[in-house]
Amino acid sequence: MTEYERLMQCCEYVKERISSKPKIALVLGSGLGQFASQIEVQESLSYSEIPNFPVSTVEGHEGRFVFGNCEGVPVAVMQGRVHMYEGYAPQDAVLPIRLLHMLGAEILFLTNAAGGIQAGMQAGEFMLITDHISSFVPSPLRGANMEALGVRFPDMSKIYSERLNQIIRQTAAEHTIPLKEGVYLQTAGPAYESPAEIRMFRALGADAVGMSTAIEAIAAKHCGMEVCGVSCISNLAAGISPHPLTHEEVKEAGDKAAPQFTLLVRGAIAKIGKQI
Ligand code: HPA
Repeated sequence: MTEYERLMQCCEYVKERISSKPKIALVLGSGLGQFASQIEVQESLSYSEIPNFPVSTVEGHEGRFVFGNCEGVPVAVMQGRVHMYEGYAPQDAVLPIRLLHMLGAEILFLTNAAGGIQAGMQAGEFMLITDHISSFVPSPLRGANMEALGVRFPDMSKIYSERLNQIIRQTAAEHTIPLKEGVYLQTAGPAYESPAEIRMFRALGADAVGMSTAIEAIAAKHCGMEVCGVSCISNLAAGISPHPLTHEEVKEAGDKAAPQFTLLVRGAIAKIGKQI
């Protein structure tokens, strides 16, 4: 079976089970999964129910799609994602994004937990992703191009939508939520970085580091979705943080940030909804 056939098969299965037509797809990062409780849920589907679908093995990742309305806008929420460090190929990790596109989602709102590199950043803050560095992980577009989705050599000069970024900035300002901005760099993980790697990433222009989002943004851009992303800075990156990094710290930071995260994402979705 080709990757495209697999995608079509997953898509047909989901379409048989689900009648929702999402406009916005939202990916919830580590510790941010509770946002799903903000959705007026119509339907949900565990990844494990979909034949040949990649299944998340990470603690703190539920592993299901939730379909419903948020602020009157039809949304599809990914409560948990799959990562390359779980052993998945980047093509597997982006299959759910492509599927949501095929269900009709035109906008992809990415969220994640990330380590802060930018000077002055504090754990618990948010960073609007204005660009990314994906050069340390293989491209999710490797292999036969899915012509039905996009071109072989897609442009990546404006991955994150300025229109959506403006909405997120405005929403943060209205709720007086401090919002940093910067470049997200993706590593393959699963180990956190060494201090020397963080110094290198900073020199290369990275403001935050994580193990997920850039490949998802690339796949979404390839198939013509409008993309935006917000990182929850769950910890200061290695060598900046005074203590060793743990997944517990990352999840706890997500819990603490949840009220502001909810305001920011809900508010942004409401504004996007008015412009659809
Ligand atoms: N590094 C990589 N990924 C992460 C981090 C980090 O410090 N924090 C949360 N995800």
